Amino acid sequence: MDPRTRKPVVLITGANGELGHGLIKQMSESGRNGILALDLNPISPEIEQHCRDTFQGDILDRALMERIVSQYEVHEIYHLAALLSTRAEFTPETAHKVNVDGTMGLLQLAIEQSSWRGEPVRFLFPSSIAVYGMRDLESKNSMGPVKEHEWTSPTTMYGCNKLYCENLGRYYARFYRQLAATEDSRSVDFRSIRFPGLISADTLPSGGTSDYGPEMLHAAAQGNPYACFVRPDTIIPFMAMPDAVDALLDLAGADVEDLSRTVYNITSFSLTAEEFREQVVAHFPGADISFGPDLRRQGIVDTWPAYVDDSAARSEWGFSPKYDLERAFRDYLVPSIRRRYE
Ligand code: SER
Repeated sequence: MDPRTRKPVVLITGANGELGHGLIKQMSESGRNGILALDLNPISPEIEQHCRDTFQGDILDRALMERIVSQYEVHEIYHLAALLSTRAEFTPETAHKVNVDGTMGLLQLAIEQSSWRGEPVRFLFPSSIAVYGMRDLESKNSMGPVKEHEWTSPTTMYGCNKLYCENLGRYYARFYRQLAATEDSRSVDFRSIRFPGLISADTLPSGGTSDYGPEMLHAAAQGNPYACFVRPDTIIPFMAMPDAVDALLDLAGADVEDLSRTVYNITSFSLTAEEFREQVVAHFPGADISFGPDLRRQGIVDTWPAYVDDSAARSEWGFSPKYDLERAFRDYLVPSIRRRYE
């Protein structure tokens, strides 16, 4: 088929998720057209209005993916669809299919599209602090900020999947068919960010293990009691959703020559679950937040680092979050959440 007959789009999988919501709104506000949204669940009307077209379906459905490439010329992919860390532990094999086979399928689609276009399709992939696996609490508490190559022995299916897909992406970007007799010019411009726990005012997370933070806040804003599933001293890095979205877009827009790697840590602020509770109570004084640790989910968070080193992201593509802890609560989370539940 003549590629000129297809509509140019940026494909966003997992569009209905937390990151998808933030990303699509932000892209559309900055005048970006041609968003093609795909999600397993019906696309919410809130984001549908910002999209050129939407599809409800499974990234593993080959017929659907073929239909998409027959109709659209995919210039860029934000592959956000995944089963998060808690949910993946209940159905590890399914998680592997979605998280790994799904990503592999999209990388193949990207390679195919790259050859149609004659230049690499840009592929943005959200990875996670879940790729880390600190040996024990003592190492976690005594380590400074963890660099991208350190402690990468994840203990969850989700963490294993993300780490492997980071590597798959690097392979497709740099080593695809490296033994071919003639040089194969096809490749994918793969770029990945390891996100900390994300906190959104507009959506609630589901199926993750960093969810206790946002759940605490959303419960308090609605006047509901909340029992936090980790110990008060549990510490991991977090970030406000607008900074996460900006980071994805900034990395996507970075000059390829400035990027020395395909995977970057980013972080805004690290705090304990107790400090999270204190922030929430400071803004919602009546909040009823208790601690009832679930030892198994606790075990997962205990393997995630307290701090990550994001100096490569800062120096290579200018990552610089707008929201520190105080600003995140005062200027973004609390006002937006109040409006949401008013
Ligand atoms: N927030 C995710 C989770 O908890 C980690 O990327 O699974």
